This record gives sequence, structure tokens and C-alpha cells, in this order.
Amino acid sequence: MDPSSTEPATDRSEDSKVDPKAIYPSEVDRATYVRNMFGAIAGRYDLINTIMTAGRHYAWRRFAANELVRSNDMIVDVGCGTGDLSIACLKAGAHSVLGVDVAAPMLVVARRKVTRVPAVTQTINFVGGDATALPLSDQSVDGWCSAFVVRNIPDLDVAIAEAWRVLKPGGRLANLEITRVERGPLRWLARFHFTKVVPLIGRLISGHASAYQYLPISVDHFDSAEKFTERLTRAGFAVTEVRSLMFGTIAMHVAEKPHVKVV
Ligand SMILES: C[S@@+](CC[C@H](N)C(=O)[O-])C[C@H]1O[C@@H](n2cnc3c(N)ncnc32)[C@H](O)[C@@H]1O
Repeated sequence: MDPSSTEPATDRSEDSKVDPKAIYPSEVDRATYVRNMFGAIAGRYDLINTIMTAGRHYAWRRFAANELVRSNDMIVDVGCGTGDLSIACLKAGAHSVLGVDVAAPMLVVARRKVTRVPAVTQTINFVGGDATALPLSDQSVDGWCSAFVVRNIPDLDVAIAEAWRVLKPGGRLANLEITRVERGPLRWLARFHFTKVVPLIGRLISGHASAYQYLPISVDHFDSAEKFTERLTRAGFAVTEVRSLMFGTIAMHVAEKPHVKVV
């Protein structure tokens, strides 16, 4: 899923007018770019999210957590960032949550945040780690969740296989991701928001030149909700729910790891 190595930018980034190669010079490893970029914007990440989504982002994570968590579950939040989905899972009734992220500065913000939510500090941990090699043993968690991460992972099928490995049979997966609005009256508005408003606000507040130019490009080069459903199904998951949020700009997938893998 490296934008510099998949379909030509003009095929799918026609409105963003940014050459992905200007953001990912071909000699730069994409995973390294992603880790450094999120590390650099960690301090302003929550504020930018709140401005860009008019505060709605907390509700989406709450929604995913409520769909995922059963009472007393052990959950892993992959690409936990500043920890909001992890906290939402605990509030939804999880027994414990492990947040995993490649960007250490994000984890610093997450750890600081949970000290302000005293009820959860005992049962939440944030550790450095990669979605493709989770620091968990086989079949050790009841739920795997992730918000706004998967489009950033070059080896996404490996990360999904890793979700399968760590989930217990019958365990569940919930994923939130930004998706392209392909049709309908709001398509133009959504494109304008993601290709013009978001990069401008992102640059002004984060001070990072390319982070929020990268966002619409990474969305353009990522799966549609249907393709992501197919990807999960190919990996053996039974997709139980695909929901479109925020006028079709966000997709939530919920899936189950069946007791017996169907191949
Ligand atoms: C857009 S942020 C989302 C953070 C958080 N999930 C949220 O809901 O706000 C993406 C996060 O995924 C992390 N990330 C990107 N690739 C990753 C990978 N391969 N493994 C673990 N974390 C990753 C980034 O460091 C960043 O913190």
C-alpha cells in the first residue's frame, strides 16, 4: 500500500494536487516516515483532531468500543496514539487494555492522559510496538481494535494476520478508518475538507509541513470499505458489521474470528 509504488497518483489523487513522491521520497522507508511524522505531531494531535472533526472523533471511538467490548474483555488497541480508544474500551467495560504504538511521543501523551482518569490507570498499559509484531502471545486477547491506523501500515495483511494470531477464537475486531467518499452530493465537500482544509489547519497547528498533506494521499491510496471487508474475509474473519459514519467519510468494520477458520 505504499503510495509511491501502487497506482499512479493521478488515478486516485486527482483532487489533492500533491505528488506522493514529494512526501515519500522513494529512498525513504514509509514506516519510518509514518513513525517520525506521528512522533513529531504528538503534542498537537488531539487538538487538531478536535478542530478537524468538530469534536466528533471521541464519539466515533466510543461507538467502536461499545460495538467491540464485552464485559471483562482483554483488549489490544493497535496504533493507540494518544490513548482515546483505549480509554473508551475501558469505559465500555473492558477488564484491561494494552495500547501499542510505534511512535514513542504518542505514548508519552497517552500515559499522561490516563493519569487524569484515575479509575483506568490500574488496567491500562501503553507500550512501544508494531502492528505487524504485537508483544502478545497467541490467542491471548478477546478484542483487537484500531482507529485511523491501518491505512498507514505498509504490510497490512501481515498486521491483520497478527490480529488473527493474538485473538482468541470467538474474539472480535473493530476498526475505524477514513474512507474516500466516492459518490453523492457530499463528495465535493469531503474532498475540499480533506485536501484543502485539513492540510492547512494541520500545518498551521502542528508546524509539520507534510503530515496533513500525507493524510488525504494515504486515504486515496487505501481500500474502500468494500475492499477492506474483502481483505478481512480473506484473512479468515467473519465481518459482522460495516458502518458508515460522518457522511460516509469514516468506515467502521466489526468482525469476528470464527472458532473454525474457513479457507
Ligand atoms: C492517526 S493516528 C491514530 C491514533 C489513535 N488510534 C487515535 O484514534 O487517535 C495513527 C497512529 O498509528 C501509529 N502507527 C502507525 N503505524 C503503526 C504500526 N505499524 N504499528 C503500530 N502503530 C502504528 C502512529 O504512530 C499513530 O500514533
